[in-house]
Amino acid sequence: MTDRVEITASGSGKSGGTPIKRALVLGSSGGIGAAVARALEQRGADVTGLSRRDDGLDVTDEASIQRAFGRLQGKQFDLLFNATGGLILNGVAPEKTIGAIDPQNMTAHFALNATAVALLIKHGTALMSPGRAVFASLSARLASVGDNRLGGWISYRAAKTAQNQIIHTAAIELARTRPGAILVALHPGTVATPLTAPFRTAAQTDTAAGAAARLIGVIEGLEPADSGGFRDQHGDTVAW
Ligand SMILES: NC(=O)c1ccc[n+]([C@@H]2O[C@H](COP(=O)([O-])OP(=O)(O)OC[C@H]3O[C@@H](n4cnc5c(N)ncnc54)[C@H](OP(=O)(O)O)[C@@H]3O)[C@@H](O)[C@H]2O)c1
Repeated sequence: MTDRVEITASGSGKSGGTPIKRALVLGSSGGIGAAVARALEQRGADVTGLSRRDDGLDVTDEASIQRAFGRLQGKQFDLLFNATGGLILNGVAPEKTIGAIDPQNMTAHFALNATAVALLIKHGTALMSPGRAVFASLSARLASVGDNRLGGWISYRAAKTAQNQIIHTAAIELARTRPGAILVALHPGTVATPLTAPFRTAAQTDTAAGAAARLIGVIEGLEPADSGGFRDQHGDTVAW
């Protein structure tokens, strides 16, 4: 389910900006995470990837985040890119109706798509360079209340909406002590990855490499005044 066709042939539409030099990609085993890590490396950035599959990082487990980040102590990154998240959790497909709500599944969505992001910010700010440094997290246009015309997929939508609120609220707080910090929620487009495989149609789908290039372009163009925002892969603001 997508609320609109996302894909254009061009890049992010933004050019210039501040090149990323040292990046930490969380969820580097995923379709978009791997593509972002690869694209940043191709641009000459020093990239550290962390994933559940390869490194045992479970972002729903605070102790696991602390262990993984503890091993990076002393390093400073100008980008923390959170590409973790999920749509079908424990084999439960997105709900088509309110009648299909399963409280356990909804809780699992909030743990992965919302609470985990708060924990990554809580422990990740220590790894962010004191100057310009971006925490970018993959949200979804489906999180937008203003853009929701189709309904359905309540747990995923609601958890991503909560993620946006977490990012917006943390950005307000961080601006007081870290004026160079930029926290942003990003919609990647509709991208061909394992997450979308059961739902997508070719006409609506971007490649992971294409999405990565666009997202990096958006991130490089962000300024501290943009912190707390919700952007799509073209750099355009998405309605809350
Ligand atoms: N693809 C799209 O069209 C699209 C559209 C809108 C938003 N998004 C968002 O973009 C993000 C990435 O999606 P994708 O398409 O790249 O999906 P994907 O290929 O399925 O990748 C998901 C990633 O999340 C990681 N992950 C899941 N649960 C985790 C946990 N508890 N702890 C640590 N890592 C965990 C997976 O790790 P392992 O594989 O190592 O287990 C994997 O790296 C998601 O947040 C998704 O909601 C995607």
